[in-house]
Amino acid sequence: MSRPRIRQHVNPLTFRGEVEVPVWEEVFARPDLPREVDVGCAHGDFLLRRASERPDLNLVGLEIRKPMAERVRRKIERAGLGNAAVVVCNANTAWRSLFGPSSLQAVYVHFPDPWFKKKHRKRRIMTPAFVEDIARTLAPGGVLRFMTDHGEYAEEVVDLLARAVAFEEVPDPEGLPATHREEWHAGRGDAIHRAAWRRRP
Ligand SMILES: C[S@@+](CC[C@H](N)C(=O)[O-])C[C@H]1O[C@@H](n2cnc3c(N)ncnc32)[C@H](O)[C@@H]1O
Repeated sequence: MSRPRIRQHVNPLTFRGEVEVPVWEEVFARPDLPREVDVGCAHGDFLLRRASERPDLNLVGLEIRKPMAERVRRKIERAGLGNAAVVVCNANTAWRSLFGPSSLQAVYVHFPDPWFKKKHRKRRIMTPAFVEDIARTLAPGGVLRFMTDHGEYAEEVVDLLARAVAFEEVPDPEGLPATHREEWHAGRGDAIHRAAWRRRP
């Protein structure tokens, strides 16, 4: 059976898919556990590793490429993980439907598409509105973690978060599993920019 072709990139500004908001009580074996979100989970490496290492957490992956998300869903099923789920969506527009105020313990934005060309910059996921949405949904003390190999994008996000009064910068959290991209860039010896912020009480 041939595998569906997975596009390299999906333009979030023209993505028309309606998000199907999961019934979290049906998705997770223990819906009451603290919840973390992996934005743009791609192959699901981080999502599955984190979920298997931390059965005391529920992990939600968001992915705009449907065939990719479906593969991750099958991996979750095969691994028998009752604490991981994946949602096909544009994280920017679906966020408010998916997550309630103060409902998240951590949000990971790892190697988001950098959209190198100047005319494509508005497709970048990290916008002032998205940072506000994340702030509203993180519980006090909750952490937003960002990683990229793209120096200019890193500076843009550090500036954006410096202006967000809801957040204070904290050291990069230790003990997190690697992401697919992180391993790839580390293998090439590329610089990796990591930053994290805590939701102020
Ligand atoms: C460069 S990959 C990084 C994957 C992974 N986080 C890692 O570190 O290996 C970025 C991923 O984000 C997804 N993505 C891009 N824009 C998105 C959006 N607005 N909402 C949800 N996912 C998005 C892409 O389809 C892609 O899988």
